[in-house]
Order: sequence, then C-alpha cells, then structure tokens
Amino acid sequence: MHDIIRQLEDKRQQARLGGGENRIEKQHAKGKLTARERIETLLDPGSFEEWDMFVEHRCKDFGMAGQTTPGDGVVTGYGTVNGRLIFVFSQDFTVFGGSLSEAHAEKICKIMDQAMKVGAPIVGINDSGGARIQEGIESLAGYADVFQRNVMASGVVPQISIVMGPCAGGAVYSPAMTDFIFMVRDTSYMFVTGPDVVKTVTHEEVTLEELGGASTHTVKSGVAHRAFDNDMEALLYMRRFIDFLPSSNREKPPHRQTPDSHERVEDSLDTLVPDNPNKPYDMKELIEKVVDEGDFFELQPDYAKNIIVGFGRMDGSTVGFVANQPMVLAGCLDIDSSIKAARFVRFCDSFNIPLVTFVDVPGFLPGTVQEYGGIIKHGAKLLYAFAEATVPKATVITRKAYGGAYDVMSSKHLRGDVNFAWPSAEIAVMGPKGAVEIIFRQDMGDEKKISERTDEYRRAFANPFIAGHRGFIDDVIMPRDTRVRLCRSLRMLQNKKLENPWKKHGNIPL
Ligand code: HXC
Repeated sequence: MHDIIRQLEDKRQQARLGGGENRIEKQHAKGKLTARERIETLLDPGSFEEWDMFVEHRCKDFGMAGQTTPGDGVVTGYGTVNGRLIFVFSQDFTVFGGSLSEAHAEKICKIMDQAMKVGAPIVGINDSGGARIQEGIESLAGYADVFQRNVMASGVVPQISIVMGPCAGGAVYSPAMTDFIFMVRDTSYMFVTGPDVVKTVTHEEVTLEELGGASTHTVKSGVAHRAFDNDMEALLYMRRFIDFLPSSNREKPPHRQTPDSHERVEDSLDTLVPDNPNKPYDMKELIEKVVDEGDFFELQPDYAKNIIVGFGRMDGSTVGFVANQPMVLAGCLDIDSSIKAARFVRFCDSFNIPLVTFVDVPGFLPGTVQEYGGIIKHGAKLLYAFAEATVPKATVITRKAYGGAYDVMSSKHLRGDVNFAWPSAEIAVMGPKGAVEIIFRQDMGDEKKISERTDEYRRAFANPFIAGHRGFIDDVIMPRDTRVRLCRSLRMLQNKKLENPWKKHGNIPL
C-alpha cells in the first residue's frame, strides 16, 4: 500500500512540474504565472478539484512516444470563486508550448460537458502555440470538438476566456465563441496567422504586439473586452467579474446585500446635462452615481467609446447597462458601437440580466464610411437585440433621442417595460436645426427667420412631453431620483414573464 501511495505522490509531483523547472523559470522570467498558479489565484483557496491529471497523449510520431507528461499540457477541473462553482481549464505553456493534442482537447471537453450538466460558468485560461504540430489531424479534430461545445454552451452557461500567452490559429476561435475575452498587456497575443505568414502573404511587416497584442484587440478590433497589466491583476479582476454573472441560464442574476440604499437621491445629477444642447457630458458619471456603491464593471472601455456597456448592481442584483456617451461622436450610433452593444444585450438576455439603458443619441452616424461598411445591417443588430430581449428593460432618456436611434435604444415600441425621460429630454425625428433646414428650405439664407423657426421647432418638439402625451414615456423624472425610480421599477419587474414565439432560432442580421 505504501508503495502505491508513494507512486501516486510521485506521479502527482511529476504532473505538477509540467514541462520541468527550466521551462517554469522561463515562464516566470516572461512575467507569466504557470497554469497551476493561475488556477490557484483565480479560485478560492483549497477549492480546486483537479481532473485527468494522469491523461497522456497518444502520439507516436516524431519521437513523441518517449515524451509524455502527465496531464498533457492542460490543467482541468472545478472549484469555487467567492463560494460559487466554476469549471476551469488552464493551458500549460511549459508542456509542448500548451499546444492542443487530441488528449488535451478531450480534457477540456470533459469539463465543458460537466459544466453544462450542472449549470456553472466555464473559464478557459489560454496559453498555447495552437494545434500540436506532431499530431496533425487529431489535434484539428480536438479543436472542432471544443468549438462545437462552445456553441452548445453559448447562452446556457457563461463562458469566459482569459488569454495569457500566445493564441494562434485554431486557438483563437474557441475564445472567439465565448462570451468574454480578457487579455494581459505585453504577454498575450491573438491572431489567425503570425507575423511571418503575414509577411509572406501580404508583405506587411508587423510585430506580434501590433498584429495581435492586447491594445490591438481592446482598441482596434474589439475582439477582447478588457486588458490587464499582468496575470495577477487579470485573475483578481476575473473573481470580481464572475460575481456579476448568474451561473447558468436557469438562474436569476446573483444578489448581493448592499449598504447602499435604493432610496438614495443623487442631487448632483440635476446639473449633469449642460444647458447648451451641443455641450457633451460624461454619461459614465450617471452610471456610477446610480449603481450600488458606484461599482461599475465596464466592458470594452477603449473600443467604440460612443457607447458604454457593462455590469453594475441595482438594489443588490446584477444589471446590464447600455448608454450612449455624448463625449465621443456626440453619442451617435455607428457600426462598431451597434455591434458592441448588440452582443452585450444578447448576453444579458440569454442570462436573465435586466437591462438599463441611458439614452442621449443624436442619430446614426452619417457618411460613406458608415454606409459602405454596412451601418444598415450592423445598426439592425442592435435594433434586433433590443427587440428580441425579454428580460426587464428600463430606459431613461437624458437628452437627445432622435430618429431611428430613438426607436433602437430600448424604446417603448421595442417592448420597453419602463421608459423614463429627464426634463431635459428632446424626443423628435431629428434635431431642431436639421429639421428646420429641411422643412423651411425656402427660408435658407434668412438667418433671422431660420433662427425663429429653429426656436419654434425646439419649443414644440425638443422636450419629453409630446412622447409623454402618447404614453411612449411613462414619466418625466427628476435626474436626482433616477436611482430610486430605477430600483423600484426593477423590483416591480422581478417576476416579469414574456416569451417570444416558438422558432428554431431567429436570423439576426450578421
Ligand atoms: C507542438 C509546440 C507548438 C505546437 C510551440 N511548441 N508550439 N509544440 N506544437 N503548435 C513548443 C516548442 O517546440 C517549444 O518546445 C515550446 O513549445 C515553446 O515554444 P517556443 O517557440 O520556444 O516559445 P516562444 O518563443 O515563446 O514562441 C511561442 C510561439 C511559437 C509563438 C507560440 O512556439 C510558435 O509560433 N509556435 C507555432 C504556432 C503555430 O503555428 N501553431 C499551429 C497553428 S495552426 P521546447 O521543447 O523547446 O520547450 C492551428 C490549426 C488549428 O492551430 C486550426 C483549427 C481550426
């Protein structure tokens, strides 16, 4: 018995060492934690239950028969984050560069299947050179097995990817199908093909960082949702992030006791909107002042900044916020912001997270760049997402709500449950100046007349009351009462039941 216990311990020790001390040192020298250190940081202490520690690859080619490492380059299992169950896999770059073999993929699939059965989030920590080159087709099959599960799990359990090293080829498509991607600055990369292939095919000279580093994907491509300075920071933020999410689509969003009263009045909001309708203000201030304890987890903060999306809590429960940002492009909707917000709205709807929408939108961004880029189909994504969402929807128009963008931004007409406006709201087909230039074209050139007509239009339409007369707005509220009124509305909506007609699935414009 003693022998077998010692053997077990030896095997465990060998597995814990992964690709060996030298490679662990190399990993540390790059400022990266090992696969196991990452899991230990992410999970509650002592909660990790590891599976498949003794799995080995089955490849015999290229001298691989003699080169096996228990666990085969990925650590898998489950544990808790602040007491809540999650499943996790963490690729071990010290073992064949974290590359994915058939056996490695089987381990990932096993925990994905189990997470689906019990209804718990899946967190993938990616640090991999892609398909195990010595294996070939088996590793490609393994990737496809993971992709298929990503799709089956989509909308069933939250899926989070943390990219903490290279992610090339097949390795990017599994993260791409998960709900959120987080990266680490200077040590993580995502690309379909690396700089060498790019140079051969397109003759472009580009560095790893420029091609697929964290700033590329959080600022330019919008592929990643946030970047952090190092592994430790990323993992600690993930613990905070997971707290916002329900474990599966069978659950309501988690509730957390808060000392922040739902009756809190925020006087400073009465002066947030400037008197001059063309002057911007920071919509983030409104979000931070209405959420519990000012705790707002913004997603994609550096991409399509004309719209803000992220999670906060109201009265203790998670809420998804979508808000136009007047500081950037005057808050106009464009291609990137529509796609960004649409995907977020669909996540919230999949996981029963109520939506709060703050509106200050002068319209869709005009121009050939937008039209040639397909603003019609991309803008339609956001329209579709809000229209199909059946979760509680509360909307507050703070200032402009013009044209089609008024309809799109969770309006009453898209089954908005509670639609409020501030006294500063202007709800109309378009802004007074644009409207006058069209309907009084004959007066153009006569400054005085145009100015009078503009004032007339502003008085008639640039207010919340026309929409109020029709019941498109449920109430005009004082800005300072926004938190109180939203908390009450969300309480009222707690047991909302609304179902879309049966269908195999809809056909969102892609
Ligand atoms: C097997 C691999 C590997 C791979 C790296 N290694 N990638 N082993 N299969 N895909 C091994 C290396 O041989 C090395 O082993 C160790 O991992 C560390 O690699 P280094 O190159 O020394 O590290 P570094 O300099 O940091 O470079 C990391 C890297 C580079 C950028 C990831 O290794 C690289 O370019 N790898 C190949 C990437 C790639 O083309 N993958 C295939 C993509 S195609 P030793 O023993 O020296 O420690 C693909 C198709 C899937 O994924 C499609 C599905 C749809």
